[in-house]
Parts: sequence; C-alpha cells; structure tokens
Amino acid sequence: MRIPTIKRCIYFALICALLLIFRLTIKDYEGADQQIGPVRTTEIDSSQHLKPPSSSEPTSAKKLWFFRNGELYPSPAMEYSRNMYIPYYWLLPDLRLSQSDRIVNQLMYVPDDYGDVKASRQIKTILLYNGLLKWNVTKGRDVFVSDKCPVDTCQLTDDMGMVEDVDMILYKDRYTPTAKVSSVRRIRALYTSQITMLYNLECPFNTLELNVPNAINWTASYRRDSSIVTPYSKWVYYDDNVQQRVQDRNYAENKTKKVAWFVSNCNADNGRLEYALELQQHIEVDIYGACGKLKCSRVTPEKCFKLLETDYKFYLAFENSNCKDYISEKYLVNALDRGVLPIVMGAHPQDYAALAPHDSYIHVDNFGSPKDLAEYLMVLDADDDLYNSYFLWKGTGEFINTHFWCRVCAMLHNKVQLKKPYFYKDYNDWWGGPNVCTKGTWNNFTKVGLDPSQVHSS
Ligand SMILES: *[C@@H]1O[C@H](CO)[C@@H](O)[C@H](O)[C@H]1NC(C)=O
Ligand SMILES: *[C@@H]1O[C@H](CO)[C@@H](O)[C@H](O)[C@H]1NC(C)=O
Ligand SMILES: *[C@@H]1O[C@H](CO)[C@@H](O)[C@H](O)[C@H]1NC(C)=O
Ligand SMILES: *[C@@H]1O[C@H](CO)[C@@H](O)[C@H](O)[C@H]1NC(C)=O
Repeated sequence: MRIPTIKRCIYFALICALLLIFRLTIKDYEGADQQIGPVRTTEIDSSQHLKPPSSSEPTSAKKLWFFRNGELYPSPAMEYSRNMYIPYYWLLPDLRLSQSDRIVNQLMYVPDDYGDVKASRQIKTILLYNGLLKWNVTKGRDVFVSDKCPVDTCQLTDDMGMVEDVDMILYKDRYTPTAKVSSVRRIRALYTSQITMLYNLECPFNTLELNVPNAINWTASYRRDSSIVTPYSKWVYYDDNVQQRVQDRNYAENKTKKVAWFVSNCNADNGRLEYALELQQHIEVDIYGACGKLKCSRVTPEKCFKLLETDYKFYLAFENSNCKDYISEKYLVNALDRGVLPIVMGAHPQDYAALAPHDSYIHVDNFGSPKDLAEYLMVLDADDDLYNSYFLWKGTGEFINTHFWCRVCAMLHNKVQLKKPYFYKDYNDWWGGPNVCTKGTWNNFTKVGLDPSQVHSS
C-alpha cells in the first residue's frame, strides 16, 4: 500500500514541476515583448557579423513570393513558420500570439486539400457590400489571379441577390445591415459559416459606432489584433537572423540641415504642433506647409522628397492621433527609403517596432521632453558613425506588398479556423474603447496587444 502512494506522490510532484516550467516559459515570452525599449533597441552587435553590401539581396529563386521578384511559393500545408510559437495554420488573433500580425503566415498559407479544391473548381465568393467601385476592383477572379495569390480560388461580386450564399460579406468603413440581410443572416448563421468582415483604415476618432456591436466576425484594419492586418506598409527581413549590414554609403554626407516637417493639418489633438514648436527652441526645425513658414508644393511631391533626401538629417513623421497601431504617415516609409532618419509620434513604440526595421527611427516617447530629444539629435548630428548606425537595416529586407485579397482568399479556405464561431462580442469597445488612444505619451501604458476577453471564440 505504501509504494503506490509514494509513486503517486512522485508523479504528482513531476506534473507540478512540468506545469511550473511551462508557466515560466510562457511568462518569459510574454514579458519579453512588453518592455518599452531604450533609445536603441539593440546595440550595434559585434557578435552578429555584418554582411557586406555586395551580398545583400537574395536571388529571386530564394525569395518568398511576396518580396520583389520573389519566386518561392508555399506548397499545400507546407509547415511554414517564421516563429516557433505560431503554427503555420494559425491565421486569426490568438492570445498566444498577441504580438504578431500573422501577415506572413497568412501570405504563406495554403490548405492541405488545395489540390482537390482547385481540381473541383470550388470557388469562395466574397460579396462587396459597398460595391466594386469603392474597392477599385473588377468582378470575378481577376484580383486574385493578377496578384499571383498562392490561393486564388475566390471571386468578388457585388450581386446582392447572392447575399444568402456567399462565403463572406465584406463591408468598407461602416456596417449598415439592411433588414433583409439581418433577418437572412439570423437564419443562415445557424447552419453556415458565412463571415461578416468590416474593413476600416480610419482612426477611432473618425469612425461611427456600430449599432449591432456583435455582428462582426472578422476585421480588417491597421490594428495588429485585427483578423486581417492591413498596415500602410510592413517591413519583412529576408532572414530574421540578419538584421544589419555594412553600408557602402555615408548617410550624413552633404547634409547641411537638421530637422524637416511637411504638415498641413495644424489642429491635431495629440499636441504634435506644440511639440514641434518646442523642439524648434532647441534645434533647427524647418516646417513646410500650412503650419510653418516654408513652402514645398504638394503638386510636386517628388521635389519635396528630393529636398528631404539631399539636405536633411531628420524628418518628423508625426501622426495626428496617438492610437494603437495607427501608423498612416506615408512619409515614414518615404523617409526610410530616402536615407533620412524619421522621428515618430503616434502609435505606441511597440507598434512601430512591429512594422518598421529595428533601429531605423526614433520614437519621441523615449525622451522626457522635446529638449531631451533635441540634445540627442545634436549628438547624432555631430557623430556620423552614430547617425549611420540607424541605417544598418538597409538591404536586409523589404517593405512588402501585403496582398490583402490573397490573404482574404487563403483565410476563407482554412477549415480548421472556420469551424469555430468567431466574432467580436462588442466591436465598439474593441475598436474605440479605453486604452485604444491617448492624447499624450504612451509611457503610462504598459499593456498592449490583444485582450482575449474581447473576442469570443469557442
Ligand atoms: C485602380 O486600379 C487600376 C488597375 O489596377 C490602377 O491603375 C488605378 O491607379 C487604380 N485607381 C485608384 C484610384 O486607385
Ligand atoms: C556630395 O557632394 C559631392 C560634391 O558635390 C558629390 O560629388 C557627391 O556625390 C555628394 N554625395 C551625395 C551622397 O550626394
Ligand atoms: C459569425 O458571427 C456570428 C455572430 O454575429 C456567429 O453566430 C457565427 O457563428 C459567426 N460565424 C463564424 C464562422 O465564426
Ligand atoms: C503618467 O504617469 C506619471 C507618473 O507615473 C504622472 O505624473 C503623469 O501625470 C501621467 N501622465 C498621464 C498622461 O497620465
């Protein structure tokens, strides 16, 4: 009688130990993502050897299909994953991958039965509720074929007569169910896996509340916890292990001016103009457009970019609202492309880190005041090596086309995930609730990422 008891005790202890280890591992993983970084997220790392610029770009045959001239396509159910925490078929937001936008997973997903799907010509249909014109697309399969999607067995329609039978109803900017759709939906929802998706690129200050807050299954927006994340632009490394390269150029060369800003809306509610004006007290800031003294015509944007590229070391890429993941500034990517160091204000520092190359920009929240920021910029201005250390990412990856339609189509083929009912319990709260936007800095916000209590998935 004694031995089994001891045995039981040992088993119990063993299980406890395993559970403990498991918990600790998960804790580490979560904790690692939640620090607000110092000024530089990584020091120039001498252990990671810098690749010379000559070998910078992989050949087309070695590039995944969504890179420029990339030729590497996923095969059905290929176990592709850049991140060991994310099984390749996890395409929807999940607590365990709350920091990931899953874009690459979605781009590389092909269902394991895709051969049969193709052979039997099963096509998924997407109804564009607001019409084709609003999306600048044509009816049918064109957009999937011309985008060379790995999964292209989908078609677009604007035929309202098909509302009962389509696989997805896609709304743009606002959800306005007609009586017909909602009554049909109530009946159909019992036995179909029809998906209602809302696409939205505005920040919460400019959107209306939904009157049916639990009607939305999937969302498409810039938010990283959207079902289909649609950022203005997204940086992807060719190889996650190579994030820096020796550059063959001095990015400070011939630049005589310091900070530039092109801006037309002077009434932003996040205080960006006040910030810039205070910065101006401590370092030279040239403000072009309605809020400043200088002019650069919007009619000739190329000329303004050229000016930026040749003369300036820094560019203010300030959003007009500070909201979760809201990064719309086209100048951010333009500045990066043109060898100017952007200073960003808007989304949380972690949100920028998820989208842009490491050490390619400076976030204002890393400084106590505009004066502190100005002092650091003066240091960079005087030290070309330090300034150039913000350009070592060049040549290690690309800002990719995130192929929205391809990802929608691939996801509609993921039977594993479609089997579970998935919808937002309260879309309004998720989209515009507390902690989504802030008027000032993010320094008092520690928890960002997906709040699992807001999505119902069972
Ligand atoms: C609409 O699409 C066509 C072809 O894809 C493209 O040439 C055109 O610039 C687009 N128009 C707008 C307004 O985006
Ligand atoms: C800097 O100026 C010199 C002399 O005008 C010119 O030869 C050189 O190409 C310029 N460098 C850059 C990066 O523009
Ligand atoms: C879509 O959302 C509705 C609630 O609005 C839910 O009843 C249905 O099961 C969801 N469908 C899927 C496929 O998740
Ligand atoms: C942030 O926290 C600091 C103290 O931790 C406080 O002084 C400050 O007022 C807070 N700012 C906001 C915007 O809540």
